[in-house]
This record gives sequence, structure tokens and C-alpha cells, in this order.
Amino acid sequence: METVVISTVGKEDAGTVMGAELIRNGELVAFPTETVYGLGANGLDGEAVNRIFAAKGRPNDNPLILHIAKKSDVKDLWAHVPKIANTLMDTFWPGPLTLIFNKADCVPYEVTAGLETVAIRMPQDKTARTLIQKAGVPIAAPSANRSGRPSPTTARHVLDDMDGRIPLILDGGPCRYGVESTVLSLVGEPTILRPGAVTREMLEAVIGPVQLAPSILKPLGEREVAASPGMKYRHYAPDAEVYVIEGDPKPVAKRIRTLYYDLEAEGKRTAILGTEQTMPSYRNLNAYSLGDREEPETLCANLFVLLRDTGAENDVILAEGIPTENTGLAFMNRLLRAAGFRRETV
Ligand code: TXA
Ligand code: MG
Repeated sequence: METVVISTVGKEDAGTVMGAELIRNGELVAFPTETVYGLGANGLDGEAVNRIFAAKGRPNDNPLILHIAKKSDVKDLWAHVPKIANTLMDTFWPGPLTLIFNKADCVPYEVTAGLETVAIRMPQDKTARTLIQKAGVPIAAPSANRSGRPSPTTARHVLDDMDGRIPLILDGGPCRYGVESTVLSLVGEPTILRPGAVTREMLEAVIGPVQLAPSILKPLGEREVAASPGMKYRHYAPDAEVYVIEGDPKPVAKRIRTLYYDLEAEGKRTAILGTEQTMPSYRNLNAYSLGDREEPETLCANLFVLLRDTGAENDVILAEGIPTENTGLAFMNRLLRAAGFRRETV
């Protein structure tokens, strides 16, 4: 199959007529969102949804998010709309927040991986919304990467993973946030299953206490059941091995330099993912800046790009950890998973 790439930059409608037709015909279309690129199919067609799992190599017990173009569409997809959901939708939609609640009968079990609940989000990205609107159905879409790899934040990344496997990629340029949406379960106590750009602090300001799923910053215990099935899989992993070094910037940079020289002496190609604050300590080393430590949003936006690019050319990546407040939680959640939780505090 030939994969066609159509740019929608500056012309958000481009390619969406063709994309909508493919979706209605049960085919797959990759499209930009403000978080990461999605791999979409008709969310009401179980057979079309199964193609997503095949193209990604995704385990079929990991449920998908339904993407909608207007808030009122949730009522057809959920058993009923809880009051708290209305408050959240009015505050954060369109945007990087996914809400989970009991599903309506029309939602196929292929989408929910057999669960009675369904995840829904209304993206902000104009191309995404035009595509959904024109398709006239909710679009089921996971991130458009091969399963286990870092999520794609550019059309180039999608092509690297999906060339020949899907007919169309809509190219909207680099994604604004660069990490996937916050996933909040409204079944029982509001609980964040996956942190994102809509932070716990932002949610609590609107709805009061919000729980964090225990597996956000640590591996799932052997007997723990994953609240979100996606949590149990190896995730965001580039080709290189990743190590996370945490602590104050000065000792962190010192430790990373030592490790770097040791690894180079062993003949291992090594890259450093540092921050603006520590870059001067890495002069003449193979180091890249994730951004300013005080701006975790920037670190999030650069993380997957740098993991992909440096991961392809190196054996080891030494990455700096940051505190887990606000968007720092989303950053550390993704980085620690990419590292398989190999971490050291100095
Ligand atoms: O930003 C995003 O959310 C992107 C863009 C494309 O919208 N999508 C995305 O999808 O990241 P995916 O499939 O890579 O991640 C969906 C996450 C998984 O961790 C999955 O386990 C969880 O949401 N999830 C989906 N439905 C669920 C459900 N009913 N109960 C619990 N977790 C669910
Ligand atoms: Mg994903």
C-alpha cells in the first residue's frame, strides 16, 4: 500500500475530504492533534477498529479513545453524562483531556477492549476536528506509532513507523503539547490514569480532590490490576537504553558527566538529554537540551522528538529528571517509562 502525505499547514481543510471518505470506508487515516498524531478509524465500526490494532501491532486488551468534534456528541456514546463531566467539558474541551465513563450500547467492544467504559476526547486541533466533522462518526484513535515506540509528534515520525501500512497521513506540522492527553476516569472517584497537559492542579481547582493512579511513577506491581490497561506495557521506548538521573541540577550534571565518560570508555555511543540550566556543563559532549527546567511544558514538547532522534543513533541516553509538580508529572511519567524505570537520585 502506498502511503500519501498531505500537508494541512495553513489550509486546515486540505486532505480532510479524502480522509473522511477513507474513514467512512473503514480505512485508517493518521492525523495531527494538539497532543500527538493519532491513527484514526471509524469508532462505530469494530472491523475498522481492528485494523488499527493490526497496523500498530497493539495488544488487543488496550482500549482506544473516541475523538469527537462537538461536546454534545458524548451523550450518544456514554450511558449518561454525569454532572462533573459537564463541568470538565466546559472548562477543558476542546483540549488535551480524555474522560472515561460507562459506555452506551453503540460503542463496539473493539474500541473498549471488552470494557464497559469508554474514553472520549474532543481535540482542539483544527484539522482533527474538521476530519471528525466531515467523517460524521466518532474517530477511534491511539497515538500513530508502532506499539511500544515513542508517540509521533510530527508527520515524519508517523511515516517512519507506518509507511506502507496506511493510505493517508495528514501533516499539520509539529504538535503543540508533544505528550498525550490527560486520561481522567470518572467511574468512581475522579482518578488520573495518565497525566498530561491538563494537570492534577488544574483539575482540582475545578472539581476538588483528584486521585492519581499508583502506576503513574512506578512500574505496576505484579498483582496490581492496571486501572488503565495501557499502563502495563513497555512504552515510549527508543532504540537506545535510557537512564534517568534526578536531583539538583549541579550534582545531576556532575553525575551525568561521569557516567558519560565511563560509557564512552566502554565504547558505547552515548547522548545526554540535558536542560538549559545544565547545558554549559556538557560542552563538547553529545548533549541536547530539552528546554528550561522551569518550563516543563517545553520539556514535554521536546521529549519524544529527542528520544526518537538520539535513540536511533546511540546505545545509551542519559536524561535529566525534574520535579513532578504540574506538567512535570506528565514529563516524568513518559521519561520513566521510556527508561523502563532505570533511575538514580543524586
Ligand atoms: O492525546 C491522546 O490521547 C492521543 C491523541 C491521538 O488523541 N491518543 C492516545 O491514545 O494517546 P493511546 O491509545 O495511545 O492511549 C490511550 C490510553 C491508553 O493508556 C488506554 O489504556 C487508556 O487511554 N484507555 C482508553 N480507554 C480506556 C478505558 N475505557 N479505561 C481505562 N483506560 C482506557
Ligand atoms: Mg499510545
